[in-house]
Amino acid sequence: MSNFDAFHDFRMNNHVAIVTGGAQNIGEAIARTFSGAGAKVMIAGRNGEKAQKTAAAIQAATGNEVLGISCDVTVEADIQRCVQETVKAFGGISTLVNNVGWGKAYDDPLAVSEEEMIQSYKLNTLSAMRMTAACRPYLLKAENATITNSGSLVGVLPAFDFIAYSAAKAALNHLMLGLAHYFAKQVRINTVLIGTVITENYAAAGLDEKAQYALAHPDNLTGRAGKPQDIANAFLWLASPAGSWISGQTLQVSGGGKRVRLKPE
Ligand SMILES: NC(=O)c1ccc[n+]([C@@H]2O[C@H](COP(=O)([O-])OP(=O)(O)OC[C@H]3O[C@@H](n4cnc5c(N)ncnc54)[C@H](O)[C@@H]3O)[C@@H](O)[C@H]2O)c1
Repeated sequence: MSNFDAFHDFRMNNHVAIVTGGAQNIGEAIARTFSGAGAKVMIAGRNGEKAQKTAAAIQAATGNEVLGISCDVTVEADIQRCVQETVKAFGGISTLVNNVGWGKAYDDPLAVSEEEMIQSYKLNTLSAMRMTAACRPYLLKAENATITNSGSLVGVLPAFDFIAYSAAKAALNHLMLGLAHYFAKQVRINTVLIGTVITENYAAAGLDEKAQYALAHPDNLTGRAGKPQDIANAFLWLASPAGSWISGQTLQVSGGGKRVRLKPE
């Protein structure tokens, strides 16, 4: 019988996490995984009722405290309320997950309006900066303080069809690297470059798993599209003490796939 516990450093007891966009899909998997690892979790979602419902389901599954709150991460007052409620309920914040993000496809990248470019930047990039600013005083007091972001493969590879989203996700990488340098020795900051993960959104768009995989990842090395849990496992590594020597990094979790698409002939 071994005395060595290989999972010890992956446990998140004494951690308090905020997961934005944690009511469904990838964010939900991250919230459930952190909770299962022992953390107290606040799910911040635009739809407060859905956030609370997901929180209750996770708490029932893991036995650890999970709360849900309505918070639009593009609205400063909502961000402040979310942070204050988290501290009131759980006594601090050690772990921020900036997971909210969304992108729209366009046929002609140059037809995207200035307004749409700015909206994408506000949602995918600026929201993470504002959340970081609001959590800063608590992160600075916490042990193993981390910020981990839901980036995208299209933030490092060209994606003319998702031009507003990919430009904003590229900016997120750069922003967070700069902040990792600023918070050196105090808060570890990493970004996961997520490949195609099949969620209920794809089913709603009428694409089954096979169709989505074929469309986005013809060169995927693993032969399958991602699942939310594939991404949550990477977040657990980066945010738990197991990742304590990892900061200022982007980690590609995409089945080894790339996403390079050229304009059709
Ligand atoms: N699914 C993929 O294939 C994929 C690929 C690359 C990157 N990503 C990134 O991973 C993250 C999660 O993706 P997902 O597929 O789970 O997305 P999703 O749309 O299923 O979930 C996002 C959640 O964020 C919430 N949300 C949206 N805007 C919000 C706002 N302003 N304030 C608060 N909550 C808001 C939504 O209500 C939803 O619950 C996103 O950042 C996305 O860009 C996803």
